[in-house]
Amino acid sequence: MKKPLFRTPHPSAKGMTFPKLSKRVVIRHGASKNSKPAPVGAIEINSLEAIRNNSDKFKMKEIFQEVEVRSPECFENTQENREIFKQKGWNVVFKKRRHKRSQGMEFLKVGEIDKLSDPIYEGGLLERRINIRREWRVHCAPALDRFFAMEKRKRLDHVESLNRNLETCVFRKDFDEPDNWQEALTLTKKAIEAMGLDVACVDLAWSGKFFYIIETNAASGLGEETKAWYEQCYREVAEIKTQNA
Ligand SMILES: Nc1ncnc2c1ncn2[C@@H]1O[C@H](COP(=O)(O)OP(=O)(O)O)[C@@H](O)[C@H]1O
Ligand SMILES: [Mg+2]
Repeated sequence: MKKPLFRTPHPSAKGMTFPKLSKRVVIRHGASKNSKPAPVGAIEINSLEAIRNNSDKFKMKEIFQEVEVRSPECFENTQENREIFKQKGWNVVFKKRRHKRSQGMEFLKVGEIDKLSDPIYEGGLLERRINIRREWRVHCAPALDRFFAMEKRKRLDHVESLNRNLETCVFRKDFDEPDNWQEALTLTKKAIEAMGLDVACVDLAWSGKFFYIIETNAASGLGEETKAWYEQCYREVAEIKTQNA
Protein backbone atom coordinates (compact mmCIF):
# COMPACT_ATOMS: atom_id res chain seq x y z
CA MET A 1 0.00 0.00 0.00
CA LYS A 2 1.45 3.30 -1.12
CA LYS A 3 0.37 6.86 -0.59
CA PRO A 4 -2.15 7.96 -3.17
CA LEU A 5 -0.97 10.09 -6.02
CA PHE A 6 -1.85 13.59 -5.07
CA ARG A 7 -1.93 15.50 -8.30
CA THR A 8 -2.92 18.98 -7.40
CA PRO A 9 -1.81 20.13 -3.99
CA HIS A 10 -4.07 22.89 -2.77
CA PRO A 11 -3.25 25.46 -0.08
CA SER A 12 -6.39 24.51 1.84
CA ALA A 13 -5.20 20.94 2.09
CA LYS A 14 -1.90 21.98 3.65
CA GLY A 15 -0.96 19.84 6.60
CA MET A 16 -3.43 17.19 5.66
CA THR A 17 -2.20 13.66 5.99
CA PHE A 18 -3.55 11.33 3.38
CA PRO A 19 -4.73 7.87 4.16
CA LYS A 20 -2.60 5.11 2.72
CA LEU A 21 -4.67 4.02 -0.22
CA SER A 22 -3.67 2.11 -3.26
CA LYS A 23 -1.42 4.08 -5.56
CA ARG A 24 -4.15 3.85 -8.16
CA VAL A 25 -6.26 6.37 -6.26
CA VAL A 26 -6.10 10.04 -7.21
CA ILE A 27 -7.61 12.57 -4.82
CA ARG A 28 -8.14 16.08 -6.15
CA HIS A 29 -8.80 19.31 -4.33
CA GLY A 30 -8.10 21.60 -7.23
CA ALA A 31 -6.76 21.78 -10.73
CA SER A 32 -4.54 23.99 -12.81
CA LYS A 33 -4.33 24.48 -16.56
CA ASN A 34 -1.68 21.77 -16.58
CA SER A 35 -3.58 19.17 -14.60
CA LYS A 36 -3.65 15.86 -16.39
CA PRO A 37 -6.40 13.29 -16.33
CA ALA A 38 -5.88 10.39 -13.96
CA PRO A 39 -3.93 7.44 -15.39
CA VAL A 40 -6.01 4.78 -17.10
CA GLY A 41 -7.46 2.39 -14.57
CA ALA A 42 -6.97 4.75 -11.63
CA ILE A 43 -9.78 5.52 -9.21
CA GLU A 44 -10.45 9.24 -9.02
CA ILE A 45 -11.95 11.02 -6.06
CA ASN A 46 -13.22 14.39 -7.34
CA SER A 47 -12.66 14.07 -11.08
CA LEU A 48 -10.88 16.68 -13.14
CA GLU A 49 -14.15 17.52 -14.88
CA ALA A 50 -15.97 18.00 -11.58
CA ILE A 51 -13.18 20.22 -10.28
CA ARG A 52 -13.23 22.28 -13.46
CA ASN A 53 -17.00 22.74 -13.30
CA ASN A 54 -16.71 23.69 -9.68
CA SER A 55 -14.07 26.35 -10.23
CA ASP A 56 -16.08 28.18 -12.89
CA LYS A 57 -18.94 30.01 -11.15
CA PHE A 58 -21.02 30.28 -14.33
CA LYS A 59 -20.74 26.57 -14.93
CA MET A 60 -21.57 25.88 -11.30
CA LYS A 61 -24.69 28.02 -11.46
CA GLU A 62 -25.73 26.45 -14.75
CA ILE A 63 -25.54 22.99 -13.20
CA PHE A 64 -27.53 24.15 -10.15
CA GLN A 65 -30.20 25.45 -12.50
CA GLU A 66 -30.35 22.23 -14.52
CA VAL A 67 -31.02 20.09 -11.45
CA GLU A 68 -33.03 22.74 -9.62
CA VAL A 69 -30.76 23.37 -6.68
CA ARG A 70 -31.84 26.65 -5.10
CA SER A 71 -29.01 29.16 -5.30
CA PRO A 72 -29.09 32.97 -5.55
CA GLU A 73 -29.94 34.16 -9.09
CA CYS A 74 -26.87 34.98 -11.09
CA PHE A 75 -26.20 36.92 -14.30
CA GLU A 76 -23.29 38.13 -16.37
CA ASN A 77 -22.26 41.65 -15.54
CA THR A 78 -23.77 43.50 -18.51
CA GLN A 79 -25.67 46.79 -18.79
CA GLU A 80 -28.86 44.89 -19.60
CA ASN A 81 -28.54 42.65 -16.56
CA ARG A 82 -27.73 45.54 -14.25
CA GLU A 83 -31.04 47.06 -15.40
CA ILE A 84 -32.81 43.86 -14.33
CA PHE A 85 -31.38 44.26 -10.83
CA LYS A 86 -32.63 47.85 -10.74
CA GLN A 87 -36.10 46.83 -11.89
CA LYS A 88 -36.30 44.06 -9.34
CA GLY A 89 -34.71 46.14 -6.62
CA TRP A 90 -32.18 43.40 -5.88
CA ASN A 91 -29.03 44.16 -3.94
CA VAL A 92 -26.01 42.56 -5.51
CA VAL A 93 -22.91 40.57 -4.76
CA PHE A 94 -20.27 41.00 -7.44
CA LYS A 95 -18.05 37.94 -7.91
CA LYS A 96 -15.38 37.03 -10.36
CA ARG A 97 -16.06 34.11 -12.65
CA ARG A 98 -13.05 32.27 -11.27
CA HIS A 99 -13.65 33.55 -7.82
CA LYS A 100 -11.19 32.47 -5.14
CA ARG A 101 -11.43 33.07 -1.42
CA SER A 102 -13.54 36.22 -1.66
CA GLN A 103 -10.93 38.04 -3.75
CA GLY A 104 -12.60 40.88 -5.62
CA MET A 105 -15.99 40.14 -4.11
CA GLU A 106 -18.16 43.20 -3.41
CA PHE A 107 -21.51 43.63 -1.67
CA LEU A 108 -23.46 46.49 -3.19
CA LYS A 109 -26.87 48.04 -2.65
CA VAL A 110 -29.00 48.13 -5.78
CA GLY A 111 -28.47 51.92 -5.97
CA GLU A 112 -24.71 51.41 -6.28
CA ILE A 113 -24.88 48.92 -9.14
CA ASP A 114 -23.79 51.36 -11.89
CA LYS A 115 -20.34 51.26 -10.35
CA LEU A 116 -20.03 47.84 -12.01
CA SER A 117 -20.01 49.39 -15.50
CA ASP A 118 -16.31 50.14 -14.91
CA PRO A 119 -14.21 47.92 -17.21
CA ILE A 120 -12.39 46.44 -14.22
CA TYR A 121 -15.60 44.52 -13.44
CA GLU A 122 -15.93 43.09 -16.94
CA GLY A 123 -16.35 39.32 -17.18
CA GLY A 124 -17.58 39.06 -13.60
CA LEU A 125 -20.99 38.06 -12.38
CA LEU A 126 -23.88 39.68 -10.59
CA GLU A 127 -25.45 37.58 -7.91
CA ARG A 128 -28.65 38.46 -6.16
CA ARG A 129 -27.77 39.32 -2.60
CA ILE A 130 -29.92 37.42 -0.16
CA ASN A 131 -30.50 38.27 3.44
CA ILE A 132 -28.70 35.50 5.24
CA ARG A 133 -30.07 34.68 8.69
CA ARG A 134 -27.90 31.62 9.33
CA GLU A 135 -25.17 29.89 7.40
CA TRP A 136 -23.43 26.53 7.59
CA ARG A 137 -20.51 24.75 6.01
CA VAL A 138 -21.80 21.27 5.21
CA HIS A 139 -19.37 18.57 4.12
CA CYS A 140 -20.85 15.62 2.29
CA ALA A 141 -19.87 12.37 0.63
CA PRO A 142 -22.96 11.56 -1.46
CA ALA A 143 -22.05 7.89 -2.08
CA LEU A 144 -21.87 7.31 1.67
CA ASP A 145 -24.85 9.51 2.45
CA ARG A 146 -22.63 11.07 5.12
CA PHE A 147 -22.57 14.67 6.32
CA PHE A 148 -20.55 16.83 8.63
CA ALA A 149 -22.01 20.25 9.33
CA MET A 150 -20.80 23.30 11.18
CA GLU A 151 -22.64 26.54 11.69
CA LYS A 152 -20.78 29.73 10.82
CA ARG A 153 -21.55 32.02 13.72
CA LYS A 154 -20.63 35.68 13.35
CA ARG A 155 -17.90 36.82 15.70
CA LEU A 156 -18.93 39.71 17.89
CA ASP A 157 -16.31 41.97 16.31
CA HIS A 158 -17.70 41.17 12.86
CA VAL A 159 -21.48 41.34 13.35
CA GLU A 160 -21.71 44.00 10.65
CA SER A 161 -19.86 41.92 8.08
CA LEU A 162 -21.87 40.54 5.15
CA ASN A 163 -19.31 37.90 4.35
CA ARG A 164 -19.24 34.77 6.45
CA ASN A 165 -15.78 33.24 6.38
CA LEU A 166 -12.95 32.03 8.63
CA GLU A 167 -12.08 35.59 9.55
CA THR A 168 -15.56 36.78 10.50
CA CYS A 169 -17.07 33.61 11.97
CA VAL A 170 -16.48 30.83 14.41
CA PHE A 171 -17.44 27.41 13.13
CA ARG A 172 -19.58 25.49 15.63
CA LYS A 173 -20.54 21.88 15.22
CA ASP A 174 -22.95 22.04 18.14
CA PHE A 175 -25.79 24.09 16.78
CA ASP A 176 -29.57 23.92 16.97
CA GLU A 177 -30.76 22.25 13.82
CA PRO A 178 -33.76 23.99 12.30
CA ASP A 179 -36.91 21.84 12.05
CA ASN A 180 -36.45 21.40 8.31
CA TRP A 181 -32.76 20.46 8.53
CA GLN A 182 -33.33 17.30 6.51
CA GLU A 183 -34.22 19.55 3.57
CA ALA A 184 -30.84 21.26 3.89
CA LEU A 185 -29.01 17.93 3.81
CA THR A 186 -30.96 16.76 0.76
CA LEU A 187 -30.12 20.01 -1.03
CA THR A 188 -26.44 19.70 -0.07
CA LYS A 189 -26.18 16.16 -1.39
CA LYS A 190 -27.96 17.11 -4.60
CA ALA A 191 -25.60 20.03 -5.23
CA ILE A 192 -22.42 18.01 -4.65
CA GLU A 193 -23.70 15.08 -6.67
CA ALA A 194 -24.73 17.34 -9.57
CA MET A 195 -21.26 18.87 -9.60
CA GLY A 196 -19.83 15.36 -9.89
CA LEU A 197 -17.82 15.75 -6.68
CA ASP A 198 -17.27 12.74 -4.40
CA VAL A 199 -16.21 14.37 -1.14
CA ALA A 200 -16.73 18.11 -0.87
CA CYS A 201 -18.65 20.80 0.95
CA VAL A 202 -21.13 23.58 0.43
CA ASP A 203 -21.85 26.98 1.88
CA LEU A 204 -25.48 26.69 2.82
CA ALA A 205 -27.58 29.70 3.80
CA TRP A 206 -30.99 30.13 5.42
CA SER A 207 -32.92 33.25 4.48
CA GLY A 208 -35.75 32.71 6.93
CA LYS A 209 -37.81 31.18 4.15
CA PHE A 210 -35.52 29.02 2.01
CA PHE A 211 -32.22 27.20 2.10
CA TYR A 212 -29.79 28.31 -0.59
CA ILE A 213 -26.58 26.72 -1.82
CA ILE A 214 -24.12 29.61 -2.10
CA GLU A 215 -21.40 27.45 -3.60
CA THR A 216 -19.82 24.04 -3.63
CA ASN A 217 -16.18 23.77 -2.56
CA ALA A 218 -13.84 21.00 -3.61
CA ALA A 219 -11.24 22.19 -1.14
CA SER A 220 -12.33 23.67 2.12
CA GLY A 221 -10.28 24.89 5.03
CA LEU A 222 -9.66 21.62 6.77
CA GLY A 223 -9.76 21.85 10.51
CA GLU A 224 -8.50 18.98 12.64
CA GLU A 225 -11.85 17.33 12.99
CA THR A 226 -12.81 17.78 9.36
CA LYS A 227 -9.50 16.26 8.35
CA ALA A 228 -10.27 12.97 10.09
CA TRP A 229 -13.73 13.01 8.55
CA TYR A 230 -12.29 13.53 5.05
CA GLU A 231 -9.69 10.82 5.46
CA GLN A 232 -12.36 8.32 6.48
CA CYS A 233 -14.57 9.31 3.54
CA TYR A 234 -11.69 9.08 1.03
CA ARG A 235 -10.98 5.56 2.24
CA GLU A 236 -14.58 4.40 2.01
CA VAL A 237 -15.37 6.12 -1.29
CA ALA A 238 -12.18 4.65 -2.81
CA GLU A 239 -13.31 1.22 -1.66
CA ILE A 240 -16.76 1.62 -3.19
CA LYS A 241 -15.30 2.92 -6.44
CA THR A 242 -12.79 0.08 -6.58
CA GLN A 243 -15.56 -2.48 -6.11
CA ASN A 244 -17.63 -0.83 -8.84
CA ALA A 245 -14.73 -0.47 -11.27
N1 LIG B 1 -25.66 35.92 -2.98
C1 LIG B 1 -25.27 36.15 -1.75
N2 LIG B 1 -26.07 36.79 -0.87
C2 LIG B 1 -25.68 37.02 0.40
N3 LIG B 1 -24.47 36.66 0.90
C3 LIG B 1 -23.61 36.02 0.08
C4 LIG B 1 -23.96 35.74 -1.28
N4 LIG B 1 -22.93 35.12 -1.86
C5 LIG B 1 -21.96 35.01 -0.91
N5 LIG B 1 -22.37 35.54 0.27
C6 LIG B 1 -21.60 35.55 1.53
O1 LIG B 1 -20.22 35.63 1.22
C7 LIG B 1 -19.52 34.45 1.62
C8 LIG B 1 -18.45 34.09 0.59
O2 LIG B 1 -19.04 33.85 -0.68
P1 LIG B 1 -18.71 32.53 -1.52
O3 LIG B 1 -19.50 32.57 -2.78
O4 LIG B 1 -18.86 31.35 -0.64
O5 LIG B 1 -17.19 32.76 -1.93
P2 LIG B 1 -15.81 32.30 -1.26
O6 LIG B 1 -16.09 31.45 -0.07
O7 LIG B 1 -15.15 31.53 -2.36
O8 LIG B 1 -15.13 33.56 -0.96
C9 LIG B 1 -20.62 33.39 1.76
O9 LIG B 1 -20.21 32.38 2.66
C10 LIG B 1 -21.79 34.23 2.27
O10 LIG B 1 -21.66 34.48 3.66
MG1 LIG C 1 -17.47 30.04 0.30
